[in-house]
Amino acid sequence: MPLLEPEKIITPEPTLELLATLYTLEQLGSHVGGLPQIALAGRSNVGKSSLINALARRKKLAKVSSEPGKTRSVNLFKVMPDGFVLTDLPGYGYARRGQSERQNWAALIQRYLEKTQDLKAIALLIDCRIPVQESDRQMAYFARARSLPVVAVLTKADKCSRNERYAQQSEWSRILNGQRPVAVSSVTRMGIPELWERLRSAAGLHTGQKPAVDAC
Ligand code: GTP
Ligand code: MG
Repeated sequence: MPLLEPEKIITPEPTLELLATLYTLEQLGSHVGGLPQIALAGRSNVGKSSLINALARRKKLAKVSSEPGKTRSVNLFKVMPDGFVLTDLPGYGYARRGQSERQNWAALIQRYLEKTQDLKAIALLIDCRIPVQESDRQMAYFARARSLPVVAVLTKADKCSRNERYAQQSEWSRILNGQRPVAVSSVTRMGIPELWERLRSAAGLHTGQKPAVDAC
């Protein structure tokens, strides 16, 4: 007789650990990879770093600010015990920084997305309150052109009504050929367990078991 019934076997809750912080193209070029990576991409202020903290159940693992443009480096977080990497990128589409700084960031993001051999998917974060933006479409097209799967994530779900979320999800699933974004909130943790499943699956590590994170 097995000690545990199959449905009672619980995948350990993943933990995140900062692996590297890369500020320049040279640092990016010299970083040694080896683990599958999923990049969190999205406009400034969409909630990428907050989502890293929610996934990690930590408040200050990634730097968060109400001012757009907080993340200025490429930050690699190792997910354990799964053994893949979540990458927190600087946001795009932020106009108030100086032009040269914006160009540096754009170059950093572009180089990371184009040259990272271990990149398995892009988690595209979209604010549930903001209508579809051209820059987000471009990111989705970029991923498609590179045959990279997109994990679409509707952020700040606590700020939107069910109807607003539904409308955004429907519109994005048209853009993404049927893939419906998972609605998440880093405040209430809504959608976080489902997102873990999608991330694991995109990293090629799908276990078929629900992680032991709380229900939404
Ligand atoms: P950049 O680093 O500038 O690209 O921004 P980011 O995408 O990393 O956003 P960040 O996580 O720094 O969050 C931006 C703001 O949105 C902060 O004030 C967060 O507290 C807020 N925020 C993030 N996620 C949520 C959420 O799920 N719900 C609510 N209500 N606020 C959120
Ligand atoms: Mg950030």
